[in-house]
Amino acid sequence: MRDLALFFHLLGAFLLVAGIVLAGVAFEAARRCPTTAEIALLLGLTRIGILLVAVGTLLALGFGLWLVHLGHFGYGVGWVDAALGLLLAVVVLGAVGGQRPKKARKLAARLAADGQLPSAELRTLLDDRVARALNYVSALLLVVIIALMVFKPGALHH
Ligand code: HEM
Repeated sequence: MRDLALFFHLLGAFLLVAGIVLAGVAFEAARRCPTTAEIALLLGLTRIGILLVAVGTLLALGFGLWLVHLGHFGYGVGWVDAALGLLLAVVVLGAVGGQRPKKARKLAARLAADGQLPSAELRTLLDDRVARALNYVSALLLVVIIALMVFKPGALHH
């Protein structure tokens, strides 16, 4: 049972990480493109990344909570509560940080359909420093969660 739960937990964790990397790489590539068609195409790929993030988060969370139960780790254990709080922060920062890129994606699709060049508004949305910072912090927190999972600070090892 524990192995099965761990398998799906890790599958979720990998999907989550893969999705963040896919969305991040597609977005950074889009920012560097000269034409609206390229920008729209690459920003479209970020949607697949976000889908992987959503599925991965649900799997990692669901099977993670089951692992806590199966492993008799209990809550109120530092690393489990910290991981839950951090995962919530990952989702919130990602959701807030994703608003401008989402606007950019819709605008790029409209401009591309009309055969127009990237507008100043599109460039501003793509270059938004706050949105990028929020997403990079979100990705960084994921690395902290992985460290918590492996080192389990404060847990009695069994
Ligand atoms: C926030 C909800 C989460 C909870 C409650 C949770 C809980 C757990 C538990 C109980 C284990 C099993 C530890 C063991 O039996 O040895 C585990 C293992 C693991 N988790 Fe999570 N987890 C969560 C989220 C995540 C996320 C988001 C990631 C990665 C992005 C992740 C990565 C891992 C890894 C790599 C292991 C294997 C480490 C090991 O077994 O020593 N977890 N998790």
